[in-house]
Order: sequence, then C-alpha cells, then structure tokens
Amino acid sequence: MNERHFDHQLSRPIGVFDSGVGGLTVLEALRRALPGRDFLYFGDTARVPYGSKPPELVRRFAWEISGFLLRQGAVALVVACNTASSLALADLARLGVPVYDVIDPAVAEAGRYRHVGVIGTRATVASRAYQRRLEARGQRVWALATPLFVPIVEEGLWSDGVAELVARHYLEGTPEDLDALILGCTHYPYLKPLLQRLRPGLALIDSAEPTARAVGRSLPAEPGRGLVVHYVTGDPEAYRALAARLGVQAGDVRKVELGAL
Ligand code: DGL
Repeated sequence: MNERHFDHQLSRPIGVFDSGVGGLTVLEALRRALPGRDFLYFGDTARVPYGSKPPELVRRFAWEISGFLLRQGAVALVVACNTASSLALADLARLGVPVYDVIDPAVAEAGRYRHVGVIGTRATVASRAYQRRLEARGQRVWALATPLFVPIVEEGLWSDGVAELVARHYLEGTPEDLDALILGCTHYPYLKPLLQRLRPGLALIDSAEPTARAVGRSLPAEPGRGLVVHYVTGDPEAYRALAARLGVQAGDVRKVELGAL
C-alpha cells in the first residue's frame, strides 16, 4: 500500500463529527476513555443547525464530512450528532471503517427506566429512532422536539436567562411520572445544570460517556499522543473561543471550505 501523506501528524486518528460544538461533549468523553488516542474533530459550523433541515440534506452533509475525515486518515468514525445518527447511519455503514452512533449507547443507558422521555432536534424526533428502540424494549416513551436549545448553545447562552425561559417553556408539558429524560442531542449536555435545577430528581441521560465506553470496548489501543485537530466550516476563531468557554482548548483549528468537501 502507498504511504499516505496528510496535513497533520496524527497517528491513526478517530474521526468525530457534529454540526457544531455539540459533539465536543462526546469528544471529551472519548479522550478520557481512550487516553493517548489521536482524534480529528469536524464541526460543520457554517451549516448548523442540522435538526431543522430535510433528511436528505443531513444525509448528504454526513456523507461529505465522513469522506473528508477518511481522506484525512480517520480509521473509524464517531457520529457525535443524534440527527446524523438517526438519518445517515445506513449510508455510512458502506464506508468500510467502523462507524459508531450516539443513539444506541443512550438507549442502553436508559434501559432500567420504565417511562423515558426524549428531547432532541425536530429531525431526530421525527425519525423515531429513539422511540422505536425504546418501544422495542417495552419501555414507555414520551418525545419532544426542542430545537431552540441548539442555537442557545452555539451562541454561548447556556447560562443566560434566555436559556431558562426556553427550558421552562419546553419542560412545561413534561409528564409528571417520567423516570428519565434522554438528552437526544449532543448540544444539550451543556444545559444539564439548568435542566436538573428545573426538574430535580429526574435522571438526565446523555450519549457522551456511554458512547465513549462503547468505542473504547471495541477499538484496540493505538500509540497516539492524545492530539486533536479540529476542522470547521465556519469561522475558526469564533469556534476556538466558544470551545474554550465550553472547557475545550482547541489548539489546532483549521478552516475547511464547503467546496472542498
Ligand atoms: N448536535 C446535533 C445532534 O445531536 C445537531 C443539532 C443540530 O445541528 O440541529 O442532533
């Protein structure tokens, strides 16, 4: 096989992608679960949000980004986006590398609860990806699309009054007897403190840790250096600043032109 040359020095990296910064919740859990492993993170910040777009468009974006990550040497992919996980997984299974989603791990994590709520983007909720899986396990499911949470996080407003106003609005109709609520969008864990304050006692489940454990169990250890290269389609500086506010020091951030995908 020919030696491939990439524009980075990473060793057999895992490619992780999302529409924006939401997937960083998954990336950080992956880095804890696989210390020393190298990662490529792709945030499609010029085209966020995905959740209000037609399914075929989200599938195309997921396909383009996956192709890009494979060309950059990714040896496995983590679809750190519930919207893309619910719509594009069957396509990505044809790529010939291991592909991990964020839905199955969250469903498994919710396994011990009887009545489970799911909040996610319009596309995720409409796809019924969570509802089908939970119902197949005999669990009662309640689902609600909560799309405004995505721009709230992308605008850095997760601890602002506007976040509380929107959260109160969405939580108003939550059934009283819910045992657990799945945060079915990777942006939502940043709102966990707020949601927990508004609904104390409700178990909040997100995909980050269970996904990282699932990937860690199935991929062999690799001798990387724990490095990450971030690719974004929007403004790299705005991304770096937002990531820093979310506790992620994104040192190496590169701009990808949409035309290059
Ligand atoms: N963070 C993504 C998800 O898990 C996408 C949100 C969006 O772009 O609408 O669904």
